[in-house]
Amino acid sequence: MTAVRTSSAELAIRMECLLGEGPRWDAGDGSLIFVDVIPGKLHRLRSGREAEPESSLVRTTQLDQPLGAANPVISGGLVLAMRDGIYLSDADGANLRLLAPVEVEDTSHRMNDAACDPQGRLWAGTMSFEAVPGAGTLYRIDPDGTVTAVLHDLTISNGLGWSPDGRRMYFIDSPTRRIDVLDFDAEDGTVHDRRCFLDVSDVAGVPDGLTMDTEGGIWVAFWGGAQVRRYRHDAVLTDIVQVPVPQPTACAFGGPDGQDLYITSARLGLDQSGLQAAELSGSLFACRSGYQGSAAQAFGTN
Ligand code: BGC
Ligand code: CA
Repeated sequence: MTAVRTSSAELAIRMECLLGEGPRWDAGDGSLIFVDVIPGKLHRLRSGREAEPESSLVRTTQLDQPLGAANPVISGGLVLAMRDGIYLSDADGANLRLLAPVEVEDTSHRMNDAACDPQGRLWAGTMSFEAVPGAGTLYRIDPDGTVTAVLHDLTISNGLGWSPDGRRMYFIDSPTRRIDVLDFDAEDGTVHDRRCFLDVSDVAGVPDGLTMDTEGGIWVAFWGGAQVRRYRHDAVLTDIVQVPVPQPTACAFGGPDGQDLYITSARLGLDQSGLQAAELSGSLFACRSGYQGSAAQAFGTN
């Protein structure tokens, strides 16, 4: 039996995100991007000196649509998974250019989590605002804007990650309470043989966002479970990070040495007493992970 290491995440910056999501370490300038999905806000946290007021450390751009996730682009700027498609923008979210329309007519649908594979293609999943079962799809968006629907009949398309050898893709559709794995063909960006990597229905809450460390460990945020868990590549649980709010949503490595684990969280669905009991809900948290992760894979080709 491997001993499970338990630690606690601490407040990194107080925020009141309704649906804080998608932390991504931007290696370009050493800042952390994250979003507030439903109100369509893009946040960028830069590291500051101690004397600086916290409020000056986060720069926020208000967009005109819900924003599932934002990722850096190799040639500069960001790729944004928005309600009606994929856009390119400047680093601060300004100067939007539509790259690829997605589910434009389905106004009851929105983008949820989106991440880049090691070859720089974007994978972006949709869901209905009301989480109607089976309404979601996972798409692959190539750097030239070609959109391919890859997985159908999803409900809450969520965490995405690739093994360090680039041969496996992990994927979570939250209500299944499973972490799935698929064989990944790096050459053409196709996936094969989706299967259950781990059934996590014994853990409180549902699995949401995920990120990978350099050893191939899988870090999963449990929405409703107030924790992030690390599973080894052979599915053995090794670490539990307790989060002081019930709804952590996603996590990512960052910081100067790539060992800080940043965790976003949500206020969505908490009633008055829930918010009183966990008033830091919606904030960004962090812990020293004891593991190494990489900065966000950027979109596009070198
Ligand atoms: C979705 C939420 C959902 C949560 C847990 C998030 O990624 O945006 O709508 O409640 O996952 O499944
Ligand atoms: Ca999510």
